Amino acid sequence: WLGLVNNGSSTSTTSDFLHAMPASLTLLQSCFLLWSGVSRLTSSAPTRSVDDCAGYKASNVTVLENGLTADLKLVGDGCGVYGKDLVDLKFLAEFQTDSRLHLIIYDKDEEVYQVPDFVVPRPGGSVNKQDSQLEVYIEEEPFSFTVTRKSDKQAIFTTKGSNIIFEDQYVRLRTSLPENPSLYGLGEHTDPLRLKTSNYTRTFWARDAPAVPLDSNLYGNHPVYYEHRAGSGDSHGVLLLNSNGMDIKINNDNGQYLEYNTLGGVLDFYFLAGPSPFDVAREYSEITGKAAMMPYWGFGFHQCRFGYKSVDEVAAVVANYSAANIPLETMWTDIDYMDNYKVFTLGANFPLAKVRDFISNLHRNNQHYIVMVDPAVAYQNYDAFNNGVNSDVFLKLNNGSIYKGEVWPGVTAFPDWFHNNTQSYWNNQFETFFNADSGVDIDALWIDMNEPSNFCEWPCNVTELQVLPRHEVGSKKGLPGRNLTDPKYHIKNELEFLSSRTARTDLAHQGGWAEYDTHNLYGTMMSRVSQQAMLKRRPGKRPMVITRSTFVGAGNYVGHWLGDNVSGWDQYIISVRHLLQFVSFFQVPMVGADVCGFLDNTTEELCARWTVLGAFYPFYRNHNVDNARSQEAYRWESVAAAARKAIDLRYRLLDYIYTAMYRQTKDGTPMLAPVWMHYPGDAATLAIETQFFYGPSLLISPVTQQSATSVTLYLPNDIFYDFFTFKKANVTGSSTTYSNISTSDVPVHIKGGSIIPARVNSANTTTALRKEDFELFVALDADAKAKGSLYLDDGESTVQTSISEIEFSLEGSKIKADGSFGFKTDVSVKKVTVIGNDGVTKYEMDKKLDGAWELDLGSLRRDGL
Ligand code: NOJ
Repeated sequence: WLGLVNNGSSTSTTSDFLHAMPASLTLLQSCFLLWSGVSRLTSSAPTRSVDDCAGYKASNVTVLENGLTADLKLVGDGCGVYGKDLVDLKFLAEFQTDSRLHLIIYDKDEEVYQVPDFVVPRPGGSVNKQDSQLEVYIEEEPFSFTVTRKSDKQAIFTTKGSNIIFEDQYVRLRTSLPENPSLYGLGEHTDPLRLKTSNYTRTFWARDAPAVPLDSNLYGNHPVYYEHRAGSGDSHGVLLLNSNGMDIKINNDNGQYLEYNTLGGVLDFYFLAGPSPFDVAREYSEITGKAAMMPYWGFGFHQCRFGYKSVDEVAAVVANYSAANIPLETMWTDIDYMDNYKVFTLGANFPLAKVRDFISNLHRNNQHYIVMVDPAVAYQNYDAFNNGVNSDVFLKLNNGSIYKGEVWPGVTAFPDWFHNNTQSYWNNQFETFFNADSGVDIDALWIDMNEPSNFCEWPCNVTELQVLPRHEVGSKKGLPGRNLTDPKYHIKNELEFLSSRTARTDLAHQGGWAEYDTHNLYGTMMSRVSQQAMLKRRPGKRPMVITRSTFVGAGNYVGHWLGDNVSGWDQYIISVRHLLQFVSFFQVPMVGADVCGFLDNTTEELCARWTVLGAFYPFYRNHNVDNARSQEAYRWESVAAAARKAIDLRYRLLDYIYTAMYRQTKDGTPMLAPVWMHYPGDAATLAIETQFFYGPSLLISPVTQQSATSVTLYLPNDIFYDFFTFKKANVTGSSTTYSNISTSDVPVHIKGGSIIPARVNSANTTTALRKEDFELFVALDADAKAKGSLYLDDGESTVQTSISEIEFSLEGSKIKADGSFGFKTDVSVKKVTVIGNDGVTKYEMDKKLDGAWELDLGSLRRDGL
């Protein structure tokens, strides 16, 4: 176990290496060392090209039962490619669970910034090497490491053949990959779900990204990828827990590789062994923390727009929905409600008494209300600003003055979410402004512009900023002496400078964190604080907070809408791959795109199709930009018809998807998934990105193009039934075309072997829906069996004292409900529809959900007989 390879000039090719580990390499297992010593920087490193850097040499390799540590020393005088090389590094690999390996390369002195634990609380754990699915090998000189899967010795990650560069403002690490890999994740992006494998760069730098363009850095940052290996049929995941600006390059110019290029931080990796794609997602949820459960009503239909100019106009929209007989669960108001866009104020057209009346009316009708709050506070003499000054919570320049940017209200200050006082400042603002007895009684919250967005171009010309020299932050939480506004390595940020249109990156947060290092955390920090503020205002009730900017772990606090999309056909269908990234890979399940599109004018046909597709987003909201053509669902009869039909189906299936969400919050199983995650062995599924599974059993295949009334969809080689006609699909394992799909319709297939609990009838609100009885759709598998689950709770309490977790099953002629039945409800199961080879049989029944039962189908009355 102890012989290391000292191998300066390996001749094996990457692909040889990926398939067979040289026998001479050593499997290493870990220990926990006390870290000591001083990491030095090279003083005058020569400038070389990245490919000439000599890398590091490992020594003091310590092998234990559960991992490995080593010291790494820079070879020669370093590289100096984009800054100064760190001379002394530490390597630690620890097997934390049978499927998770934590591997970190960090500076000996621990001065280099690391993602704070309070943002992403790292999971611990330690297992013996025998229990791990993975193995780690290192070579001493030049230092490289390789992670293999024990079962087949395949290297899932290897730095061999490419030296690590670890400088003060540039860190590079490259892994070789097999040819044409199937990689997913690395968002937020709108690029193909299965990532391009040549000449492709994903950039991680949060920005306000109007029109959510392709090939661009967007609002959120999740440097995790899922890889599916065709050969072994296994999947694994790799997270680099690093919040610095970063380019991840995927290319095949010199063998296939994936390469991290960061502006700092440490190499903090988590390798997740899978082996199934769903296993990877569940394992990832142990790092992100489990997603926050959302209220039942949050799954209702929401209406919003930028540009509702008065409370009367907002009330009229609610009335119009009612008149059109389209269920509206929640009405939203954008920044229009504010006085000149100042947060925590009401404008003249939104007088408090009238707003409170309006909200009371909504509540009386079991409808809900949500408004937006931006982070930037107007730099003006008013409460929200003065309170912030008094609590000292705004980001400051190093001369002690408040840093000023420009957002909607004009000159603004930005809260420092790292500051000890910020939570109580935010709580107090919420308590006053959103007070249920005297203020704006919101049910949930929308937070925006939290990249943070700043309209001011760099160098921002709000007067005093221009005269300040560039400066360095004397931060404990990052190396000193760095150029925090213009590092030598330029990430492929869509905007020219790091500080362009955001808070300047040389600002220091309280505690010493530099905005340079923590920029990508701003939205998630705001999310955390806002979730807590909502919880305080509505004690005991699940906070629903929808944010724009996210980082690893954000789903633990909030949901996300997909930002400023465009009312275009390309963006309508791209929304599916954008959505799946978050739900299936990043553990942020409460997600949806702006239905009918945000920017530009929508069209009747697009809006109808999008209203149908949106009914299968976890978060279902129509939202529109100021000045664009109005697009509420009642504006066109075809859209109204589509909305009525889509909402009816969504609501009848609401408990099915609520159950799937509950499961994701408990064990990380994604509530929506791309087809390949269900059928990883089927190569034809790997690039599918316009169809997806809604919950465990329903395959949704929307029409993808303008003017089309048909769609060519792929059904994996399994049993599928049309969810509406109950006909068994006779073509599986290939594509098939569905025709005559009206703008109110979408093909939905149910997978054989599933039971879907649905409400017999839909309702106008989710409150009314909860009183409707259930029916079961039973789709038989090849053995004429099926099963499915149903989770019931009170729909809104953070702590549930009595829940039901019911497992339905059908085998032979016996249909059963088993599990736990703690939640008290009067509703019953009234019908069963059994769908199988021989067609469909409908039965009537009447069974409460207050205890286990078993029935013989033969004893039931056939429906209609
Ligand atoms: C930008 C957001 O992305 C958008 O949804 C919102 O309408 C505007 N800000 C105005 O608040």
